[in-house]
Amino acid sequence: MFFFYTANNNISGKRILTGLQPTGGLHIGNYFGAVRQMVEAQDAGELYFFIADLHALTDLSDEQAPQSAAERSKNSRHLLAASIALGIDPEKSMVYRQSDFPQVTELMWIIACMLKHNFLTIGHAYKDAAQEKQNVGLGVFLYPALMAADILIADAEVVPVGQDQAQHVEMAREMARKFNHTAREACFTEPQEQIQKEVAVIPGLDGEKMSKSKGNTLPIFADEADLRKRIMSIVTDSTPRGEPINVETCLPCAYLEKIMPREEYGTVVNRCSKGDITYKELKELLAEQYLAYFKDARETYEKISDDTKYLEKILTGSREKLDTRFTEKVTKVKQILGVL
Ligand code: ADP
Ligand code: TRP
Repeated sequence: MFFFYTANNNISGKRILTGLQPTGGLHIGNYFGAVRQMVEAQDAGELYFFIADLHALTDLSDEQAPQSAAERSKNSRHLLAASIALGIDPEKSMVYRQSDFPQVTELMWIIACMLKHNFLTIGHAYKDAAQEKQNVGLGVFLYPALMAADILIADAEVVPVGQDQAQHVEMAREMARKFNHTAREACFTEPQEQIQKEVAVIPGLDGEKMSKSKGNTLPIFADEADLRKRIMSIVTDSTPRGEPINVETCLPCAYLEKIMPREEYGTVVNRCSKGDITYKELKELLAEQYLAYFKDARETYEKISDDTKYLEKILTGSREKLDTRFTEKVTKVKQILGVL
């Protein structure tokens, strides 16, 4: 696998924090929208990456059966192993699980008390949920408060997220500002979102935004047969053999562009414009390139994903490193508020 390292002055020497929900297999959208930026970030600054397993509990208010306990812990383990396999190094970075730190939920309550109903109704997650159902769960409603607690407890300076999460980081910044203003001291660091524009939204196999909830993903760690099947099912138009393919609207090309070296992809573009390649051939090429691009990551994942002892050791190490710091932050907030 090769990463495209970009010199990024915005994050150099800074504390960079992001979390991912353990809701199922990581896909290429998560990779280009989130994980790759974290891998790059850990060499430029100080990376905090956590498994947002409490955020994943927001499905508890759904009518449909939420994830089982076994699924939840399996998904957390998958995310930990997957992120390490993709290049997040627990030796260099803080890699932890949100639920290991009750300080986060304690801070969330304080932040929730600072918020007004109207402010939360403009939240992205809430607005999306409210479009689908009349009665949105309180976990979804308070989602930005928990996210702000994640960010503010760690004094994160930069938060790399996909476009859809940018607004939640803005909210966290606003809450930090508000609290600091009231406290008349810089208790919280004001976080800044970081969005990598050119990979802002990776399309799914049907051309809609790729998302686990839409079932249109290209997973990274699925078995090879499943991956090939998914790739062959990518929606394309009916350009006949011999006619030029429009690379702007060609879905297999959208993925190839991300994972192929620039010059080699240039050849593909050339062949498309000459009508010298079919969609079927493009998909076959994509399957090969995809497996090659993620080869190392897939091998590492195979090795560590069932090594519970190794994965637990990482989480325990992070608990030891962060526990006191997070407690100190919440203690300071409580002292400012006079609840200690
Ligand atoms: P999903 O929609 O598959 O459940 P999440 O909502 O858990 O994914 O998103 C995890 C991270 O991956 C977020 O930072 C999000 O912005 C990013 N992400 C998810 N899907 C995409 C996509 N299609 N394109 C770019 N980034 C994405
Ligand atoms: N809301 C993020 C997502 O669904 C996950 C998340 C939780 C997060 N807390 C965070 C991301 C704090 C960045 C910072 O992808």
